[in-house]
Amino acid sequence: MRRWYDADLDRQPLEKRIIAVFGYGAQGRAQARNLRDAGLQVRVALRQGSASRARAEADGLTVLDPDTAAEQADIAVLLVPDTAQPRLYEDVLARHLKPGAALLFAHGYAIHHGHLRARDDLDVIMVAPLGIGEQVRATFEKGAGVPALVAVHQDGSGQAWPLVLAYAGAGGHGRAGVMETTFAEETETDLFAEQAVLVGGLSELIRAAFDTLVEAGYQPEVAYFCCLHEVKLIADMIHERGIAGMRESISEVADLGAVQQGPRIIGAASREAMRKALAEVRSGEFDRQLQREQAAGFPTLKAHRHQAKDDLIETVGKRLRDRMPWMRASDDEEGGHGA
Ligand SMILES: NC(=O)c1ccc[n+]([C@@H]2O[C@H](COP(=O)([O-])OP(=O)(O)OC[C@H]3O[C@@H](n4cnc5c(N)ncnc54)[C@H](OP(=O)(O)O)[C@@H]3O)[C@@H](O)[C@H]2O)c1
Repeated sequence: MRRWYDADLDRQPLEKRIIAVFGYGAQGRAQARNLRDAGLQVRVALRQGSASRARAEADGLTVLDPDTAAEQADIAVLLVPDTAQPRLYEDVLARHLKPGAALLFAHGYAIHHGHLRARDDLDVIMVAPLGIGEQVRATFEKGAGVPALVAVHQDGSGQAWPLVLAYAGAGGHGRAGVMETTFAEETETDLFAEQAVLVGGLSELIRAAFDTLVEAGYQPEVAYFCCLHEVKLIADMIHERGIAGMRESISEVADLGAVQQGPRIIGAASREAMRKALAEVRSGEFDRQLQREQAAGFPTLKAHRHQAKDDLIETVGKRLRDRMPWMRASDDEEGGHGA
């Protein structure tokens, strides 16, 4: 697989091209501002009554209705939720995009699972930033960038590769590294990592450890600080130095305990559960579950979110965090989410 850095990424294919960013949420806001600041012609496309419109206009961007934006676009960047992309394509983009235009994704889900089949003349390309929207913007402003994965699913124009590389370069990703992938690899690894580590595994590990301490009679506040609050300190160290580097930075007491207990806690049963989760992602079983949930209005998700708010770890955590207002994300950058 190929890799590129800034000096390899020619921005010329984006010159005089109109980039329409559909959606102004976590990624849309970050990418639209980065592209504008890179000197490119950016339009933001929002549906009527969109809650994001005021913010986009306050950021100095031109906001258009989706049909007009699609008519003008050389590149349509789909930064609405993955589950909303097929409908956006069918209702707007399929009808209005000019021949040879490009559909650009930040995640391969809708294409890989076959929910969106683009016209043959269109480029179907992906620049998947390896970071949440807030980081995409904050690193760009510092003159750096987050790494990104790039892929071409369909090369309708015959120029899809130069275009996808130019977009990755304009977004600052070449400063950290741009790597070739496929829509299948990006989608499957991203979903698996969210489920096994970033969202599913990490949340449950924290909750189980917190519950274990509280059940044993320790103060919930102390359990919260040990099992949740301090995760950031360790995660930052792992991020900067790797796991081995983090282990070198902690005490011998902590390291010996980790060596003895870590593989017992995440043992054979957890590894088997990870293989099963990966198999369900690869077979399409997870996608079928998601489609059923979406069709029913996400009842499982809503019930879980509602109930989780009342959990002890959340109520205790909120109380403690309220006394540390400096920890809150600033209003300016709120709205970043996604793994
Ligand atoms: N979140 C991340 O940091 C992250 C990281 C890597 C990749 N990605 C990928 O980036 C893409 C965008 O994700 P995101 O998290 O940035 O999305 P998001 O924040 O949930 O997107 C919100 C935006 O989409 C619009 N929107 C929501 N539902 C819509 C619909 N049914 N039709 C049209 N517009 C709709 C909203 O407009 P209204 O104001 O009208 O509701 C809002 O402007 C996804 O493919 C995701 O997988 C995200």
